[in-house]
Formats: sequence, structure tokens, C-alpha cells
Amino acid sequence: MLVSAQEMLQKAKAGKYAVGQFNINNLEWTKAVLAAAQEMNSPVILGVSEGAGKYMTGFKTVVGMVNGMLEEMKITVPVALHLDHGTYEGCLKCVEAGFSSIMFDGSHYPIEENVAKTRELVDICAKKGMSLEAEVGSIGGEEDGVVGAGECADPQECKAIADLGVTMLAAGIGNIHGKYPENWKGLSFETLAAVQELTGEMPLVLHGGTGIPEDMIKKAISLGVAKINVNTECQLSFAAATREYIEAGKDLQGKGFDPRKLLAPGAEAIKATVKEKMELFGSVNKA
Ligand code: 13P
Repeated sequence: MLVSAQEMLQKAKAGKYAVGQFNINNLEWTKAVLAAAQEMNSPVILGVSEGAGKYMTGFKTVVGMVNGMLEEMKITVPVALHLDHGTYEGCLKCVEAGFSSIMFDGSHYPIEENVAKTRELVDICAKKGMSLEAEVGSIGGEEDGVVGAGECADPQECKAIADLGVTMLAAGIGNIHGKYPENWKGLSFETLAAVQELTGEMPLVLHGGTGIPEDMIKKAISLGVAKINVNTECQLSFAAATREYIEAGKDLQGKGFDPRKLLAPGAEAIKATVKEKMELFGSVNKA
């Protein structure tokens, strides 16, 4: 059964480790992430962007698929199904469809509007027993056509949003989605420390997990990050393994064109990446 992300993240914050959010795109992706979590005995958050939801034909399909897998794969570790960077309308759709967690990304609104909309969703999630992630300070890079500049959040604004009773808070600290450019200045630990100082026990979320050096990940966890989002890295692993299979001509040998064979190396590569991240984040055996 899907669970809210609240308990797993509170435990992570208290235990100084982080739970990974891995974005899913299709059946193979979902199966790979769930299998990795079960094998590592780790809690996990499945992230679904609005674009990925649409790709999979809609949020109800995603809920049906994930619930089916939890049962058929006999998954016993805590799993949350979470909307990633949701609009207000997208959040309502996911509540309706049976997600266990949502993110409302109001970071591009003036803070008053972000507060007002987040407050409404706090009430809705409380009634449903769902977890809610809010965002202050937009995350740089491009995701589903939304381009952010990689701002550093204002710690006072973070406190204003945290005080509304959200479950977890994403604060921009110079992180961006996708690969980091050569001239990236690194995470702003000064901002992170100031945010944690004002928000106390609130689990903080680090977006753009792909390509952040290990020492920065560990330092971020020590400063209150309890959820780390990874998307691009699984896509790169999947693409590289699939390319290798095709370039080796394996699709031309025997029944190598069978999708169950052709997509297998990519799925194994996702699983390996997810496991590696779980080790790094410290969530292994924390189910
Ligand atoms: P990456 O694609 O950079 O790993 O970021 C994922 C993310 O933050 C999803 O919200």
C-alpha cells in the first residue's frame, strides 16, 4: 500500500540520511526502482512529473500500475507516489487519482500567492493523510519546459511556507535539474544552513540530484536535507545501456528485438543507479 512520505522523511531527518525520489517514466522504470528499493530494504519515493504523467496516459494509469506492482512484486518497504513540480490543478488531479504525496511548485509566484495556494493544499492533504512538498526559490535548469534560474531561496520566505504545515520543503540553493555546467559554483551551504536554522525539524528537499559530487550530497544531508531527487541520471544510465545493446548488434541476434530483451539492460542500469544512490544517501536498511 502506498504511504505518505511524512514518516519516512521525519525518520530520515532525525537519523541524518536522505530518502531518494526517483522519477518514473514507464513500466520498466517503475519496476526497476521498486525492485532496487526492496533489495536494498530502503524506503523510496516515486516521482512523477506532469509531463511523465501525461506520457503514461494520465495519473490514474500511474496509480493503477504502481498499486498493482506493490502487490504483485510483494513490495514491503515504504513507497510514496509523489507528484513532482505540480501546478495547483495538477495537485488536485493527483489527490483525486490516488497519489499519496504531492509537490506544489509555487516558486514562480510572488510569495503571497505561493503562501495562499500552499495553504489551501495543506488543508486538502491533511484531510487525505497525504504529504505535501512546497518550493521556495526556483530550481535552475529545464524540466518539462519550465526553466528556472537556480536561485537561492530567501530563508524568511522558507520559514513562512514551512510554518503553514507542509511535510517537506524544497529550497533553491543553487541546484539545477539536469547536468551541471562546467562553471557551476556548487551548492550554497550558507543558504541551506540559514534555511535549516529557521525551519528546524522540517525535512528539506534537494532537487537536481544528478551530478552533485558525493561530498556535497553528504554535507547537504548533514545540514538537514532528508529527500534527494534524481531523474536525469537514471535516464542517462538507461540510454547508455540501451545504446550498448543496439551498437553490439544484439537486437539482430535471435529474438534480441523482443522488447523484454531490448529494454532489459536499460532497466538493469536504472536499478544499479538507484542502488548506488541509496547507498550514498544512507537509506539502505532504513525501511
Ligand atoms: P535531476 O534530473 O537533475 O536529477 O533532477 C531531478 C529532480 O530534481 C526532479 O524534481
